[in-house]
Amino acid sequence: MRFGIVVSDPDDWTAASLGSALRRRGAKTFYLNFSRLSACLDRKFSLASNGVNLLELDGLIVRDLGRRGAHDVAFRFEALQALEELGMPVFNSSSAIARAANKFATSLALTRSGIPTPHTTIATDPEEALQALDNYGRAVSKPLFGYKGRDIELLTSSDRQRLEEIMQRQGLVYLQEFVSSPQPRDIRAFVVGERLMGAIYRVAPPGQWISNLARGGTAAPCEVTPELVDLSVRAARAIRASYCGVDLLETSQGLKVIEVNGTPSGRGLFVAMGLDVTDAIAGLVLES
Ligand SMILES: Nc1ncnc2c1ncn2[C@@H]1O[C@H](COP(=O)(O)OP(=O)(O)O)[C@@H](O)[C@H]1O
Ligand SMILES: [Mg+2]
Repeated sequence: MRFGIVVSDPDDWTAASLGSALRRRGAKTFYLNFSRLSACLDRKFSLASNGVNLLELDGLIVRDLGRRGAHDVAFRFEALQALEELGMPVFNSSSAIARAANKFATSLALTRSGIPTPHTTIATDPEEALQALDNYGRAVSKPLFGYKGRDIELLTSSDRQRLEEIMQRQGLVYLQEFVSSPQPRDIRAFVVGERLMGAIYRVAPPGQWISNLARGGTAAPCEVTPELVDLSVRAARAIRASYCGVDLLETSQGLKVIEVNGTPSGRGLFVAMGLDVTDAIAGLVLES
C-alpha cells in the first residue's frame, strides 16, 4: 500500500509518527507538501505533488493542507475532492475537514446532533450582534476559520466599538457565550473511529483564559468519564470525521463541546500521557 501524508511542516511530530506507524504495518509513505501541488489537464488528468503521482496512491492522510491565500486553499480542496471522486480514501475527508475548519458549520452540526455547546450567534448586522452580546453579558468572538486560539477576544456589552471593528474586518462576527471558570482550562479529547483514545486538560497560563498549547497552555492527563466518551464520539460523528480532536469546556450544566479539529495534532497527548494516537489512525486507515 502507498500512502501520502499531506503536511507542510517537515518537523511535524504527528506526520512523522503517522509515517512510522504506517511503515511498521508494511505501507510505503510519501510526505507531500501541497504548496508543491500541480494539476495538468492537457490530455489525461494528472495530479502530482513533490514528484509523486497522486493518482497512483492507495490513500491520503491530511495532517495539514498548508495555508496561503484563498486561491491556494480552494485549489487544494478541489484536488482532494477530485481524488475522492476517483475513489481514493482521504482521511479526513475533504467535507469533514471543511466542516471542522468552519466554526459556523461545526456549531450547526453539533446543535443539530443535540450535542451540548455554548449559545452561539453568527451575525452580519451590528445591531443583532450587539443584542446577542447584551444577552450573553460576556461573549467570545472567534474568527470563523480560526485555529490555535488566534484572534479570539473576550467582549462585554461596553465593547460596541471593538465589536464593530471586528465586523468591519470580517464581514460578520461569531459570538459565543463566555464560559467562566476559576481555573480556565479546556479538555482536548482524541477520537479515532468510534473510540475515545484519551484526553488531556489544557490549562491556561496564569491570569489568562485561552488554553491552547500554542498560546502557552499546559497539558495534564484528564480522566475519561462516560459523559466525555459520549459527547466526544458523538461530536466526531456529527462532523463525520474518521479521527479528530474534540475541545470541551466544563460548565455547571456539564461538559459542552466548543470545537472539533479535523486535522488534529497528536503531540499533546503523547507528551502528557505517553499515548500515541497515530498508531490507531494508521490501523484505521489501512483497514478501510
Ligand atoms: N465560549 C468560551 N468560553 C470560555 N473560553 C473559551 C470559549 N471558547 C473558547 N474558549 C477558550 O479559547 C480556546 C480556543 O477556542 P476554540 O473554540 O477551541 O478555537 P481554536 O480553533 O482557536 O482552538 C479554548 O481552548 C478555550 O480555552
Ligand atoms: Mg481549539
